[in-house]
Amino acid sequence: MAKMKVAVLISGRGSNLQALLDACADEDFPAEIVAVISNKAGAQGLERARKAGVAASFIDHTLYEEREAFEKDLDAKLKGTGAQLIALAGFMRILTPWFVDRWKDRLINIHPSLLPSFRGVHTHERALEQGVRIHGATVHYVRPDMDDGPIIGQAAVPVLPGDDAETLSARVLEAEHKLYPACLKLIAEGKARVTAERVKIDKDAAADAASLLTNPVG
Ligand code: GRF
Repeated sequence: MAKMKVAVLISGRGSNLQALLDACADEDFPAEIVAVISNKAGAQGLERARKAGVAASFIDHTLYEEREAFEKDLDAKLKGTGAQLIALAGFMRILTPWFVDRWKDRLINIHPSLLPSFRGVHTHERALEQGVRIHGATVHYVRPDMDDGPIIGQAAVPVLPGDDAETLSARVLEAEHKLYPACLKLIAEGKARVTAERVKIDKDAAADAASLLTNPVG
């Protein structure tokens, strides 16, 4: 079966991109990364893409006065790659409803919390402040509101005594690196679909998806 073509948008380190590249390196994986685009010139993720032999490029958003103009160029570039799905992986630009609607149900994101808790930034600090005992990460379809949209998968990790934002974020990140490829696999195999603003997972994939929740790094 033809692999699903995926473009990844990044702004920085690109460790989730690396997890996706590593998963896609397996010839049996149902998706392939056709392009990596960063809005930051020096993003480490661009180097990771090049090392994996994936086309890596940079669009400087500061050159555009209007957010829409930047997105029009981004959209044209994405279309040119033949991407069927866009995966945001630490892409630090808010996307307008125009762009989000254009890629509706073909645009996914990873967020470092168990949504709908802790939308926005500094999720680990806020989880510690609130004293939650379970934290984690979410992969979801993107909607115009920030960190909103149908949830594809979640991975939970414990908050341990003595944790600080650094130790907790490292634990969540390890889970993210399992979760994102697993969710991409579900989508690329056509086993996860949006119906009435919820993601339906096929019965034969449900056990795998559920095991992520409690055993993300196992
Ligand atoms: C991750 O924590 C991801 O959940 C969030 O931004 C961070 C990106 O890290 N959206 P990396 O660039 O993938 O290493």
